[in-house]
Amino acid sequence: MEDIEGKVAFITGGASGAGLGQAKVFANAGCKVAIADIRQDALDAASAELKARGATVHPVRLDITDRAAFAHAADEVEAALGPVQLLFNTAGVSVFGPLERATYDDYDWMMGVNFGGVVNGMQTFVPRMIAHGQGGHIVNTASMAAFHAAGMAGIYSASKFAVHGITMAMRDALAKYGIGVSVLCPANINTNIAESIKTRPAHLSASGFAVDDAEIQALRDIYSQGMDPEELAQHVLAAVKRNDFYIIPYPEVRAGLEAGFQCILDALPPQDSDAEGQARRAAAMRRYQDARRAMDRARYGA
Ligand SMILES: NC(=O)c1ccc[n+]([C@@H]2O[C@H](COP(=O)([O-])OP(=O)(O)OC[C@H]3O[C@@H](n4cnc5c(N)ncnc54)[C@H](O)[C@@H]3O)[C@@H](O)[C@H]2O)c1
Repeated sequence: MEDIEGKVAFITGGASGAGLGQAKVFANAGCKVAIADIRQDALDAASAELKARGATVHPVRLDITDRAAFAHAADEVEAALGPVQLLFNTAGVSVFGPLERATYDDYDWMMGVNFGGVVNGMQTFVPRMIAHGQGGHIVNTASMAAFHAAGMAGIYSASKFAVHGITMAMRDALAKYGIGVSVLCPANINTNIAESIKTRPAHLSASGFAVDDAEIQALRDIYSQGMDPEELAQHVLAAVKRNDFYIIPYPEVRAGLEAGFQCILDALPPQDSDAEGQARRAAAMRRYQDARRAMDRARYGA
């Protein structure tokens, strides 16, 4: 999407950190921005800051795990600003601890916000974007944790692997509608995510992980050295204009990614082994894809 001017952007987590950075940068580029967040105080502050910079902003209080509320938020924003062409599923939360101690509440909270919130954003807006026919772009925020998983960040990583997967599939699904889809995989951003447990709802509060002031401070120390959210959002803007899939503006992650992908490649047998099996499986896949295309044309039209 080369022409950003005048577009409407809906940004979850838009009251803080990466989402607020996106609101600032896309407003500067001429967008009208809707910022959606679970925290009213943060929404008030962010919206005042954006207005002071001359932005057209519409704040909306939203828990992205609430599907009915998401639909209402979309209606409200469309009524205020017009159809949404840019969707940023940015809100996310994290809590870390030994995976074997995790509770169902730990799973439900992180999977619900980080993956479920992205799903709800796309379920809400994709049909609207297809219907208005103006094209658009969706940016889902994953993380470098979408490529590597460790025991202390297991559920967070699983939620981000899931965001990575659904985003890749959605890019394939939406290309024919002129809607681009990108996955943002930050390594470290200077944000307030160390405090995200403060947004954890009471009904999912039984955690297996101990979180105290010392842990929050240690996390703050790391994130305080992260990339500035506006600088990150400038990379997002450039990527949206070029329709890049991956947005990973961190040179330091190269060695880890290379080692990870090499490990996957090392698990494969030699390329020229099992020639007969390879040919049989490839032919079966081609037959299936041809049949599938014919069935889909009959079922869903072109
Ligand atoms: N900070 C980092 O280093 C880092 C690294 C990789 C990925 N990320 C990802 O970046 C994204 C943005 O996080 P951030 O670092 O800007 O943190 P942040 O805490 O500064 O901002 C996240 C915002 O999401 C909001 N939020 C939380 N739960 C919500 C819910 N249920 N409904 C609506 N809003 C909700 C919070 O109130 C907050 O304003 C997240 O998806 C996070 O996983 C962050």
